[in-house]
Amino acid sequence: WQLPALIAAIGYLLGSIPFGIVLTRLAGAGDLRAIGSGSIGATNVLRTGRKELAAATLMLDGAKGALAVLIGSRLLPDNGGAICGVLAFVGHCYPIWLGFKGGKGVATMLGVTLALNWIIALIFAVVWLGAFGLSRISSVGGMSAAVSAPLAALMLGGPVVATPFAIMALIVVWRHRSNIARLLRGEEPRVGSSKEA
Ligand code: G3P
Repeated sequence: WQLPALIAAIGYLLGSIPFGIVLTRLAGAGDLRAIGSGSIGATNVLRTGRKELAAATLMLDGAKGALAVLIGSRLLPDNGGAICGVLAFVGHCYPIWLGFKGGKGVATMLGVTLALNWIIALIFAVVWLGAFGLSRISSVGGMSAAVSAPLAALMLGGPVVATPFAIMALIVVWRHRSNIARLLRGEEPRVGSSKEA
């Protein structure tokens, strides 16, 4: 059990690096948790008006998830990649450095998914683009894509393959509780709209 525990700890610590906070602070773009949704992900970084910082946050939050899978699968070929990747995702959503109040997990889930199974990642990306393209709402794109991943994994590989994706999708939806409430009230802002905080 020691090796899986070590892999989990490495994944959690890697995933808990809050790139959105780090980049906006370094760039002097304000306190991410005081603006918009208060989340630490790329969508909220975009609300600072700094597109390049949002793009960098998206890529780095994704890359830490992918890197965790690569490290985990090196240390434990069977399921080390899935353990380390899912724990990196958990670290992003619940980072110890920020009182366990982190991001909503979409970018990190994409990175983990890409490193675990590129076909499922492709489906994730296509669903994100489709749902976001229709709604222009980031949370709708993110939740739709997250839920599509375990469904795709179930069809392509069965329940064991789908398990890490199902865990991440459940957490993504749970982390979007406030977005769901706003969606139901018709108050969730569209990206780039004047209602956007
Ligand atoms: O990936 C996060 C996105 O789905 C929602 O972010 O800041 O609008 O709550 P936000």
